[in-house]
Amino acid sequence: MEGIKVEGLTKIYGSGQRAVRALKGVSFEIAAGEFTVILGPSGSGKSTLLNVLGGMDRADGGTALVFGKDITAFSARELVSYRRRDIGFVFQFYNLMGNLTARENVAIARCSGSMEESAALEKVGLSERGNNFPSRLSGGEQQRVAIARAIVKKPRLLLCDEPTGALDSKTGQKIIALLRELKRDYGTTVVVVTHNAKLAQVADKVITLSDGSVREVRINENPIEAGEVEW
Ligand SMILES: Nc1ncnc2c1ncn2[C@@H]1O[C@H](COP(=O)(O)OP(=O)(O)OP(=O)(O)O)[C@@H](O)[C@H]1O
Ligand SMILES: [Mg+2]
Repeated sequence: MEGIKVEGLTKIYGSGQRAVRALKGVSFEIAAGEFTVILGPSGSGKSTLLNVLGGMDRADGGTALVFGKDITAFSARELVSYRRRDIGFVFQFYNLMGNLTARENVAIARCSGSMEESAALEKVGLSERGNNFPSRLSGGEQQRVAIARAIVKKPRLLLCDEPTGALDSKTGQKIIALLRELKRDYGTTVVVVTHNAKLAQVADKVITLSDGSVREVRINENPIEAGEVEW
């Protein structure tokens, strides 16, 4: 299985009476190179799922095969190298290093086979902003730095948590078009979490979460171009 196969994934935060069952047995498959959108209301488990897939957090049960390996069985050391080698991650709240410039924030994510950080910044339309510190960038610009940092190493799997939340419609469309191009250019498998149900139209597959469970998996036979999305 060269894509992703998640089976019966569970995640519980806390314990006892305070326990929150964030994932209640989630199962789905994503083919390699597929562009997938994950929808669902606030608190439905989207970030939790992405964190587990990205090796940032551990599931409590179930399996997650990613490119043929069950990441839920990985040791801490294996998770580190998985994150470093295979995963690009766009955090919901950017997580930029405040004491590094935009360019340096992108540069720290480079590894062998990466593109130049200037190329990544250019792809997100920030060539002119590389020397700015995050505090001197708008929210949308910071978000685009976070995207540049995630794509610079040409990851096999790119996981994006609300990558267009702070962007206006025009910039958002450009970023979605960029994310779609990664499949064409590098064969990247892209998973995008969003509140914007309209983005589902550009996806090959749409997974809807509700209260920690998969409510629906839909396949779009004819996804539309990012530029056609009404934001
Ligand atoms: N670190 C944590 N400790 C305890 N509970 C948590 C933690 N992180 C998330 N939760 C809970 O798990 C559930 C799922 O949260 P999650 O962040 O995955 O939702 P989400 O779908 O990403 O929501 P949003 O759209 O608001 O970002 C929520 O009930 C949330 O309160
Ligand atoms: Mg979230």
